[in-house]
Amino acid sequence: MTEEDFITHAHPTTIEKDVVSSVAPSNIALIKYWGKYGNQLPENASVSFTLSNCHTKTTLSYQKKDSEGFDFSVFLDDAPAPSFEPKISTFFERIKEYIPFLEKYSFTIHTTNSFPHSSGIASSASGMSALALCLVRMEQQMNPQMDQALVTRKASFLARLGSGSASRSIEGPLVVWGKHPKIEGSSNLYGVPFPYKVHPTFENFQDTILLVDKGEKQVSSTLGHDLMHGHPFARQRFEKANANLTALISVLESGDLSEFIHIVESEALSLHAMMMTSRPYFILMKPNTLEIINRIWAFRKKTGTSVCFTLDAGANVHVLYPFSEKEKVLSFIKEELSAFCKDGAFIIDQAGSGAQLL
Ligand code: DP6
Repeated sequence: MTEEDFITHAHPTTIEKDVVSSVAPSNIALIKYWGKYGNQLPENASVSFTLSNCHTKTTLSYQKKDSEGFDFSVFLDDAPAPSFEPKISTFFERIKEYIPFLEKYSFTIHTTNSFPHSSGIASSASGMSALALCLVRMEQQMNPQMDQALVTRKASFLARLGSGSASRSIEGPLVVWGKHPKIEGSSNLYGVPFPYKVHPTFENFQDTILLVDKGEKQVSSTLGHDLMHGHPFARQRFEKANANLTALISVLESGDLSEFIHIVESEALSLHAMMMTSRPYFILMKPNTLEIINRIWAFRKKTGTSVCFTLDAGANVHVLYPFSEKEKVLSFIKEELSAFCKDGAFIIDQAGSGAQLL
């Protein structure tokens, strides 16, 4: 599909006012998106596990208005959240071509996260995908012929315009975003479910998120993406990410966990290596991030388990492992790793099936 396919030309029904709600999860990338061009288009393809427990619930109330321009107010946990307004304004600006009635309504957006806002977990993927799904549902109410497949795809398309990684939160459990020659149907415009066979070992794959640093990020992802322009290793990084995704296709099929670990950990470290070699350079890992990584490596060696880690653009560590190892790994986390988390905090999560209307 092209961008043109997401423009709706006519809406048969007009609705005076209504309310729509959705819930959308966060996701954790195995192959990372880091670097973009044009209108939120990724420099390389990425793939992630959609999560379950880390999610955002959004309720969008809308009412017809006569004035010009955008009109919305945002609430987080029922309290006004003016700090979210600039991001939502940018989002509305980017999507107005595709949601033509956006300026004809006043919106009230109520949002709540299942994880603490200060946890350092990116809420943009779950937040933007939840809001995008509400808006497409609103469009479907005015255009009842819109079929479900288009609703899903358009939600991912719009979510991407809010935050790139959000395009991977609409469906699950494994979603690819970014055109890749070996992945049929993949697109730079929206996420698609990973289309090939996946070995049962990856079913209900576990992700326990160790909250190393709960503060606000020092460097936003958006700035980090920008620093890939003119980065000395950018080209090699984009090629390597695409090659890693090619390799991951057969690993996901065969269930080869040792190769999986190699690819996933190398992706996480490459992402942070990009940060350390950009200009300006920066480091998001904390001493406890490294301590945890070293302990995961030692535990894996000692026990022969298939536990590994990945990182997003922050200090928190995502501990990934097969469902069959849950008991063993969780005791290891509780007994050893939680000591390196802020206030001992971690979140137990696992792969899930994506966003839903409520
Ligand atoms: C490190 O999707 O947060 O988590 O498109 O600017 O909103 P924007 O960036 P964002 O970047 C996510 C980067 C990452 C890797 C990933 O999720 O693929």
